Formats: sequence, C-alpha cells, structure tokens
Amino acid sequence: MKPTWERGEELLLEAKEISVFYGGVRAIENASFWVDSGEIVAMIGPNGAGKSTALKAIFGLVKLRGGDILFQGENITGLRPYEHVPKGISLVPDGRRLFPSMSVLENLEMGAFLRNDKDIQNDIERIFGLFPALKERTRQKAGVLSTGEQQMLAFGRALMQRPKLLLADEPSVGLSPDYVDTIFERLIEINKSGTSVLLVEQNARMALEIAHRGYVFKIGTIFMEGAGKELLEKDEVKKVFWGD
Ligand SMILES: Nc1ncnc2c1ncn2[C@@H]1O[C@H](COP(=O)(O)OP(=O)(O)OP(=O)(O)O)[C@@H](O)[C@H]1O
Ligand SMILES: [Mg+2]
Repeated sequence: MKPTWERGEELLLEAKEISVFYGGVRAIENASFWVDSGEIVAMIGPNGAGKSTALKAIFGLVKLRGGDILFQGENITGLRPYEHVPKGISLVPDGRRLFPSMSVLENLEMGAFLRNDKDIQNDIERIFGLFPALKERTRQKAGVLSTGEQQMLAFGRALMQRPKLLLADEPSVGLSPDYVDTIFERLIEINKSGTSVLLVEQNARMALEIAHRGYVFKIGTIFMEGAGKELLEKDEVKKVFWGD
C-alpha cells in the first residue's frame, strides 16, 4: 500500500482520526481512512464494529467527537447531510429509504432534486441502461418492487446526483444471490465510469474481491488495511469472517 505521504492529487476523501460516540457508547475512536479518486474501497467487520457509523460520519448524519473529514482537500466536517450532495458525495443508505408511494421515475427525479441542468433525461436513460429491470417498471410504485429492484433504484437515485464518491451501506443485505451478483457487477461498472465507491459490506469476500483496498473494523477501530485481494488472504480476516 502506498504510504500517506506519497498520495497526491488523486486523494478524494480523507477521514483523520475520527471519533463518534452515541451518548457514552463509543462507536468509533481515532479511525483514519481515505479513498483515492477512481477507487473502490471496502469496509468490512463484525456487527457493531462501527462501519455504518463511519459512513454516517462522512455524510454528516452523526456528529464527530473528534477528528476531521476532508473531501478534495476541503474540510467538510460538520456539514449537514444535504450539503454533501452538491460537493459530490451521495449515500445509498442501509434499508434503501426510497419513497415507497412514488413511482420508479419519480424516485429517480427526486435524486436530481438539486439539479437544474439539461442532462437529467440522459442520466435517467443511463441508469435504465445500467438497471434495465427499472425501465420496465418506470411507472410502478417503489414500494411494490422486489428488494433487489429497490436496491437498484436506491443506487439509481444516488447516481442521479452525479456523485464523485458513492457511499453504500450493505447494499447486498436481504437480496437473493442473483441480485447480489447484479449489484456487485454494477458497482464495478459504476466505478469504471468514474465514480469512486466506499462500500460497507457484510459480504466480506465479495466486497474484497471487487475492492482496490479495504479496511477491517473491529469494535470501534480499524485493525487492518490493505489491498482487497491481500486482505482476503490474511489469516486474521479468514478467522473472523470465514472461521478458517
Ligand atoms: N443510534 C444509535 N444509538 C446508540 N448506539 C448506537 C446507535 N447506532 C449505533 N450504535 C452503536 O454504535 C456501535 C457501532 O454501530 P454501527 O451501526 O456503526 O456498526 P456496524 O459496523 O455498521 O454494524 P452492523 O454490521 O451491525 O451494521 C455499536 O455498538 C452500536 O450498537
Ligand atoms: Mg451497519
């Protein structure tokens, strides 16, 4: 792995020694991580280790007790969630959080809420190209879609914001194996088309397989980091995730 001092312009997101507490409960303490432009970075770790909290901290959904978050060199610590979107950060939250009584198309349009450019229609077509199942259901309410289709729509809605960095919290959870494969394949495509991805996953093996780098969380701290494929081979990772 490249040492920090060699990182230059490609650095997109940097979390420096961040700590988050819920009341007296420590969720993460002194965690540092980064995402370079063009990367898929995976965050894995057992339940309650602080992965979702790390994403929430980046997106301003929880307050930092300590540390800083920088995006493209700008200190974004303390910004409100909606202030992240125009900066180029979008979140696909856990549980998807769609507007269930709105149609597929309306959910996508909601993603473009802060935009007023002429490319909105093109982007909707691009998302239908990425997820053809959504195109067939343009007028259906989000609430009647299958879980896998809802996850696609959650990605589509976030992509309508044209993020430089996409944060995704457990996108494969509750999905049938076919949909899990689809979501991971599309993540690779989304990344190849220029969006960096920070991916929290309980499906550690698949996440590390597609990730350029990964961070392994353990009760509120990052205890290991490295290239995705390297981490897959580590005994500690095997022990925690696969019981080898
Ligand atoms: N809203 C909250 N109020 C109080 N404690 C919380 C809250 N959210 C999370 N926690 C606690 O913070 C710690 C980290 O939780 P977090 O949800 O970030 O973990 P996680 O790694 O995402 O776990 P999971 O794999 O279960 O999603 C846990 O001890 C959790 O119980
Ligand atoms: Mg979580």
